[in-house]
Amino acid sequence: MNVLAKIYSSDISPKELKNDVVGIIISGGPQSVNDNNSIEADLKIFNLGVPILGLCYGHQFIAHNLGGAVKPSKSREYGKSELKLQNKSLLLKNIKDNSTVWMSHGDSVENLPNNFDCIASTEDCGITAMSNEDKKIYGLQFHPEVNHSEEGMKILKNFIFKICKAEKNWRVEDIINDLLQKIKKQVNNKKVFILVSGGVDSSVAFALLTKALGENRVKGLYINNGFMRKNESEEITTNFDKAGFHNLETIDASKLFFNRLENIFDPEEKRKIIGQSFLDAKDMAAKNLKLESGNWILGQGTIYPDIIETGGSKNADTIKTHHNRIDSIQKLIKKGLIIEPLVDFYKDEVRQIGSLLGLSNGLVNRHPFPGPGLAIRCLCHNNSNQNNIPKNEKIADVLNNNSNKINHEIIPIKSVGVQGDNRTYAHPLAIWGTKNWNELDTLSSKITNNIKDINRVLLLLNPKEKKSFSLSSENLSLSKKKIKLLQEIDDIVMKSIKENKLYKEIWQFPVVLVPITNNNNKESIVLRPIVSRDAMTADFYKMDNKILDLITKKILDTKKISYVFYDITHKPPGTIEWE
Ligand code: XMP
Repeated sequence: MNVLAKIYSSDISPKELKNDVVGIIISGGPQSVNDNNSIEADLKIFNLGVPILGLCYGHQFIAHNLGGAVKPSKSREYGKSELKLQNKSLLLKNIKDNSTVWMSHGDSVENLPNNFDCIASTEDCGITAMSNEDKKIYGLQFHPEVNHSEEGMKILKNFIFKICKAEKNWRVEDIINDLLQKIKKQVNNKKVFILVSGGVDSSVAFALLTKALGENRVKGLYINNGFMRKNESEEITTNFDKAGFHNLETIDASKLFFNRLENIFDPEEKRKIIGQSFLDAKDMAAKNLKLESGNWILGQGTIYPDIIETGGSKNADTIKTHHNRIDSIQKLIKKGLIIEPLVDFYKDEVRQIGSLLGLSNGLVNRHPFPGPGLAIRCLCHNNSNQNNIPKNEKIADVLNNNSNKINHEIIPIKSVGVQGDNRTYAHPLAIWGTKNWNELDTLSSKITNNIKDINRVLLLLNPKEKKSFSLSSENLSLSKKKIKLLQEIDDIVMKSIKENKLYKEIWQFPVVLVPITNNNNKESIVLRPIVSRDAMTADFYKMDNKILDLITKKILDTKKISYVFYDITHKPPGTIEWE
């Protein structure tokens, strides 16, 4: 919104804020205000005389500390809700009734604080929005900052411009100059060795560093970890060459990665090993290139969501450890030996910076691809999941309220999710019996909101072949054979969406290999196309049924796959990737 915003820890002293700010936003977080060790802030911030807006935990923090009450909600709310406007407020000026907002909470404000009015509610949450117009203190249970809150930006604009009366004096062009200066200052007289993956973030970071320091002081390193898409490694090196980057080295480290990941099943363990292997491969390359260690620091294309989800701010929960946030990297960061020019930015901003730096549209608009690549899209198992599949009678109740007869079965594997800003690791539920996306959308939210042991819902696309959902009999860990199979199916999917001109419309399309079989030892595939703006939240993509049938047929025609599932879970409660 062209206004400078700074992020402070909650223990900031109100005095420090006093000279600097025209408004304060208190963010969400994973805790409950009623926990013994809940996050506190100095309550004198309420006397600073500047407008305050609390979001989610921030909303509850205001209620809890100014005389209201916060209790666990009767039903948890994750995903979409509709806003019902109540008392008038400047914060919700020009917001329509029934506007869609995005919720992710287990606690609710039950009693208003003193001198506050309720300004909006939703079906499941009485005090969804509250205000004290005289003191300019506001609270919202939902998340206006995520782009799935339909008029969220308008609400934030009301706060920032109408209530805080902030001025628009901050532009991306200014940020770039600032970034270049910051890079020069941090790197000083050293040089930077930056890991590039061919994706947007590391390419933009590489371009920024090269612009700030010149080609002689920046070397890019592309590490082939063996988990890239089919033929992707060759494409990436050719593309960089074409784009005029002559300071790029490549190394094939796939053997190292495969050896270390043999017999590893746990997703977090996998991620940590992958992160460490990137570092070791980088050291091998540096030695081969004879880069004197004291002179070179490491560059990374880390962006803001990576560090948030790894629990990177003091009070955030670890949703998953991103490969660029493992312990040894954290140690290097402390020693000042890492430079991450994009660490404060979201994906959409990184794309904007990339365009301004003159990177090609094709590169800037590529689908994001995670550093650990297909390794986190190939689920492994060692049979331990089979024993604790929840038996949940409530599922039938939730589904039976529906007009169609919906079949369902819990799948004996687990995936990572995020609910109320906390990590979950739970079972998916497969359903079949309708292909109406709106109906599926409603069902999906109802299931994950009401059934604790389920964090994902899948639509089974080939129900005629349904026998059992059994775990493949062999223990499954990452092998070249499995990755080759996943590459083949992923390639079918990527080609199909390009042919059908869906590549732009879909923001990211993970294809996941899961160890579920039809008693025939062939694994299954989960299609996970989503739309998003910044990966912090996402909607599952509602694909044209004809195109989806075509893709399903192509996958089954390989005769290498048992079932094809379509992930119909938004984020939250599911994450985009499965691990
Ligand atoms: P999740 O699965 O957390 O993903 O909803 C959000 C975005 O981050 C990408 N992702 C990663 N990117 N290293 C990366 O460079 C990682 O370890 C990693 N894990 C997830 C994911 O593809 C999505 O775009």
